[in-house]
Amino acid sequence: MHLNNFSRVSVSIRLAILTALAGLQITVASAQTNNEIPTLQIKADQVTGKVSPTLYGLMTEEINYSYEGGLYGELIRNRSFKASTNSARFWTTVGSGEISLDPATPLNDALNISLKLDAPQASKDAPAGIANGGYWGIPVKPKTTYKVSFYAKAANGFSGPLTVAISSADGKTTFASAQVSGVTGDWKKFETTLKTKSVEPSKANQFTITTKSPGTLWFQNVSLFPPTYKDRPNGRRPDIMELLADMNPKFLRFPGGNYLEGDYFNERFDWKKTIGDIAQRPGHRSPWNYWSTDGFGLPEFLGWCEDLHMEPVLAVFAGYTLRHDYVKPGPDLEPYVQEALEEIEYVTGDAKTTKWGAQRAKDGHPEPFKLHYVEVGNEDWFDRSGSYEGRFAQFFDAIKAKYPQLQVIATTRVRTRTPDVLDEHYYRSQEEMELHALDYDKYSRTNPTKIFCGEWATRVGSPTPNMAGALGDAAWMTGMERNSDIVLISCYAPLFVNVSDLGQGGSMQWRTDLIGYDALHSYGSPAYYAQKMFSTRHGDEILATDSQNIPTAEYRPPTRRRNQGTNQPPAEPPPAVQIRKVFFDATRDSKSGTIFLKLVNSLGTPQPVKVEISGAKSVGAKATATVLKADKIDDTNSLQEPTKISPKTETISGLGANFTQTLPPYSISILELKSK
Ligand code: AHR
Repeated sequence: MHLNNFSRVSVSIRLAILTALAGLQITVASAQTNNEIPTLQIKADQVTGKVSPTLYGLMTEEINYSYEGGLYGELIRNRSFKASTNSARFWTTVGSGEISLDPATPLNDALNISLKLDAPQASKDAPAGIANGGYWGIPVKPKTTYKVSFYAKAANGFSGPLTVAISSADGKTTFASAQVSGVTGDWKKFETTLKTKSVEPSKANQFTITTKSPGTLWFQNVSLFPPTYKDRPNGRRPDIMELLADMNPKFLRFPGGNYLEGDYFNERFDWKKTIGDIAQRPGHRSPWNYWSTDGFGLPEFLGWCEDLHMEPVLAVFAGYTLRHDYVKPGPDLEPYVQEALEEIEYVTGDAKTTKWGAQRAKDGHPEPFKLHYVEVGNEDWFDRSGSYEGRFAQFFDAIKAKYPQLQVIATTRVRTRTPDVLDEHYYRSQEEMELHALDYDKYSRTNPTKIFCGEWATRVGSPTPNMAGALGDAAWMTGMERNSDIVLISCYAPLFVNVSDLGQGGSMQWRTDLIGYDALHSYGSPAYYAQKMFSTRHGDEILATDSQNIPTAEYRPPTRRRNQGTNQPPAEPPPAVQIRKVFFDATRDSKSGTIFLKLVNSLGTPQPVKVEISGAKSVGAKATATVLKADKIDDTNSLQEPTKISPKTETISGLGANFTQTLPPYSISILELKSK
């Protein structure tokens, strides 16, 4: 049986929603004032829908040094010397050498510049060379093998060899070194390994290439890789991959976000320039204002999916950039439509019979990838020209004609086509998340537009969300999960932040991000743990619920800003509203009968709740309880205290079809109740 939109929430909550919508002062008394214990009813004989098997996934883009200086294993910053056209940024000299950018000595058309080292004074006692400090340090770990590769050529009497090394930033301690011979007047690729001994982990280190022989040298694509997750060449950082694997994500939305669009056309994610040999990838500027080598390109996104058993949710460039340039629908847009079709072919095409499938095989992956969802653009509501209507229609028709099985996602509402799914984005405060946590209960069930909640986050806490963020997120997730008959897929954003330099122009461009790291360590925020709990503990059936006496608190929404430059008087502050402070939802595993009851207490006091389960033959007296809680609402995790707020699991007893459970202050709990 499918309950209608409003029948899932109690009368008082319905009133609260309607009043909030009308912008009126709420007069509903909270349960706190009535001293009545909230009652949560779970109707085990009323399944309102199926939990989407792809509800929980990941969203990613190059922001906050997500790949370069993040997930991408590469340790050398600005390995291709294209981060600036003025200077060799992030490179310094060792000894008497002088370095400069040399556009006259390119490696190839893609890496069309090189780093020149003039070292006329280099000698046995005074080596000269180049040094790179990585992304806020080069991580040194004990008994670890690092792979070094670079292109080099030489002139002016250079007779080699070169010494490559990882040493402390002051140059006093060498952790590993190796010799490389055979550098000539022609570009050649060199590869070696560096092995550390039983050293203490550290990050205030540098990578160097030095010579004791005088001469001139040119370098390009200088790379240093630590071991990667599953030993993938050009692969990903294991500790961060393990954090992600623990979330059991079902899909990856890539490559953006704004990173898909770029500020300008030549800065969009141009997928064909991100495949093949990394020395043939020109790289481009991220709209988050730093250089991307595109070493982490389309094949690497797909490899990431494969390693974590996720499906790609592929966002294709749709002819619109962040600076509001757009391509008119019609013949001008056609090349971009073709490019998107080819990209889909690269992901899904047969290796023998399709051009781009063959290219994927050449890039190391003969097997096609599974693909169900393609998203056309990103946040096209910013396109005030109205061109998205026509652009979407053109992409939609072409994709459906060639790949009728694909689900096409629109990034904003359109009229002339019916998108399979609509992408909605929500970045909010904790209170706004709570205020809107029941929104999806109100969506029409008559031919509803299916929803992809493609970017959402409670933006409280920086660089990573604190417990308030986790509580807002959990409230929101109960709403998505309870309505995942229409919310098919969802992903938090942004996923990553390098926390090494939080100042202006540093490693963070967006202030609340799920997972933080530096060169050496990584950690999950309280919001990360909340998501991990939700995505790893749910059933496949949504159970009908109802509630009474849910405690509320007064909330005054922020005053909306008026348009600048108008003579309008300052806006009236909006009236206060009552928002719920306890949230819950219930799903059941149809095979085992386990009911997953999710409970969120945003109050700073213990909150007893009466749970009444009807329609089940029996409910066991014991359950597994997994609880995430904090003493203070702004408590958080960090590099120093990575698991300060993390879930604890225990067995609890004294349960059954009717029981009272006290939720700890500031807590997210999941009870796994055995039912028949
Ligand atoms: O997640 C950060 C940014 O927020 C995304 O790039 C963009 O889509 C949204 O505006």
